[in-house]
Amino acid sequence: MDLEKVFHMKGGRGETSYSENSSLQKKAADKVNHITVEAIKEMFLESKPMSLCIADLGCSSGPNSLSNIKELVNAIERESRKLFERAPEFRVYLNDLPTNDFNTIFQALPDLYRELKKGRNHGSPSIYIAGYPGTFYGRLFPDKCLHFIYSSNSLHWLSRVPPGIYNEQGDSTNRKSIYISENSPPKVAQAYFEQFKQDFSLFLQSRSDEVVVGGRMVLILLGRNGPNYVDRGTAFLWEILYRSLAILVSKVRC
Ligand SMILES: C[S@@+](CC[C@H](N)C(=O)[O-])C[C@H]1O[C@@H](n2cnc3c(N)ncnc32)[C@H](O)[C@@H]1O
Repeated sequence: MDLEKVFHMKGGRGETSYSENSSLQKKAADKVNHITVEAIKEMFLESKPMSLCIADLGCSSGPNSLSNIKELVNAIERESRKLFERAPEFRVYLNDLPTNDFNTIFQALPDLYRELKKGRNHGSPSIYIAGYPGTFYGRLFPDKCLHFIYSSNSLHWLSRVPPGIYNEQGDSTNRKSIYISENSPPKVAQAYFEQFKQDFSLFLQSRSDEVVVGGRMVLILLGRNGPNYVDRGTAFLWEILYRSLAILVSKVRC
């Protein structure tokens, strides 16, 4: 399956949409918000670009991306005010895979612009936002054009199912699981690790070509406390999902 062509979160604003079910992701991003804001401020004070270019990689269709953009713009405007200087213009690229529901995010733009205007006597900041479809596992942007790269809750998605989990007959060796579970043989964890290394190296290589000298990057992704692969705070969610899928599949076979 070509993940790049088919993979996306559930679009729209309905009850089961990503938009209505992404508060956990927001909580994770909020926890490190001070780091994100500090990073963009540092970059701005060091290089003072007149046109500041931000990319959100894996923006999806929920409210988290625009809420973060608002925070970043507000932070830079505050710094500019402190210096009695005019704030830069902002170029914002919202990236996700091509089948992401960009329309839902675009529909939220008028509200963002209204909020950014609130309480400002001198008008709203100059902000130019565009959707940017494509995989972040490879080049997306021209050379040296990004000042601030942000990606939250997205880099745990690999570019493909690791080929190492299949045996010579092409069957999965992961004992029907869809993730690294307690039942998985060590080979499976190794296969996921190899795929992550390959994907993440390509991600970093691509971004290093795209970021300006002195630019900053903030990446927020799931981690775990110990060396055990299954010791993850969210493991129980995968367990529920895997069991539900297994029940569904067994019903089809009956
Ligand atoms: C869980 S959502 C996170 C959205 C948002 N950043 C947030 O924190 O709410 C992960 C997003 O990453 C996107 N994604 C996964 N692999 C990607 C890739 N290779 N290139 C670009 N986006 C990708 C998915 O389509 C999805 O919309």
